[in-house]
Formats: sequence, structure tokens, C-alpha cells
Amino acid sequence: MTATSTAAPTTPVPAVAPAAAVTALRVFAVLLLLGVLLQPFFAGGFLRGTFDWAVTAHEIGANATFGVALLEGLLVLAVPAFRRDKALLGGLVGIGVLLTAIIGLGYVGGDAVTAHVPLAVFVAIAVTHHAQSAFRSR
Ligand code: HEM
Repeated sequence: MTATSTAAPTTPVPAVAPAAAVTALRVFAVLLLLGVLLQPFFAGGFLRGTFDWAVTAHEIGANATFGVALLEGLLVLAVPAFRRDKALLGGLVGIGVLLTAIIGLGYVGGDAVTAHVPLAVFVAIAVTHHAQSAFRSR
């Protein structure tokens, strides 16, 4: 006599992400990296009033970077193979928290810049690490 299973059949979750999703993940990760790495150039432009437009570019760059992080978050949640990757998911959540903090401190302005600038270094490290993770073989 053979034992019969009463468990409901489960839909197998693909182990790898579709190629288009991997490409999209990498594009978002590179945009995040560029978005953050451009910020000190704009800051250098407006800090001593050299380029008036640079503060607007700094603000637009910040919000666009946050938008990219949100879109990438939606992608990671939508693709099971990405969602299961705790380093990818955790890294992106961390980046979201850091971006929220740095943008908030930027808008506070004044003395908050003493925390804003060092935080930018941590954000840069986080997005670099994240891009490496997105380009790992998948
Ligand atoms: C080394 C890198 C950075 C430097 C030196 C820097 C410097 C500054 C300075 C001096 C201000 C003006 C503060 C004031 O009004 O007193 C500022 C504002 C701001 N920063 Fe940064 N920042 C850097 C990176 C970033 C990053 C990575 C983000 C977000 C992705 C960001 C987002 C903002 C925002 C949203 C503002 C407010 C802009 C406005 O009021 O129009 N910054 N930053």
C-alpha cells in the first residue's frame, strides 16, 4: 500500500527571474547610483553660490532618485526570485530609509546639513553595494 498526500498542490515558484526583470533591476540600480553620485557635484555648485541652478538640480535629483528607489521596490516585490533575495530586499529597504532621512534633513536645511553631508557618504556606500548585488549573476 502506498501513502497518499492530502496536501494541496502548490504552484512552483521560478528559481530565476525573467531576463527582462533582471535588466530592469540593473537599470534601476545604476540610476540610483548615478542619482546619488551626482548630488555632491550639484552641492559643490551651489554651496558658494557659483551656480544658482545647482540647488534646483540637487532637489530634483533627490526626488527623482527617491522615485527610482520606489519603482525598484515595486519591481523587487513583484518578482518572486528578487523578493526571496533577502540581501537585495533588505538593501533596498535600507536605501529607502536613508533617502527619506537625507531628503528630510536637506529640506530642514541650516544646521541639519551637519548630518546631511555625512549621511550622503552612507547613502553612496549603500547604493554602490546595492548595484553590485544587482549585477551578481542571476
Ligand atoms: C556629499 C553630498 C551632499 C552634499 C555636500 C549636500 C549638501 C547640501 C546642502 C549644503 C544643502 C542645503 C542645506 C541648507 O539649505 O542649508 C542640501 C540640501 C538638500 N539636499 Fe543635499 N547634499 C548632498 C547629498 C544629497 C543627497 C545624496 C540627497 C538625496 C538623494 C540630497 C538631498 C537634498 C535635498 C532634498 C535638499 C533640499 C533642497 C532644497 O531645499 O531645495 N543631498 N544639500
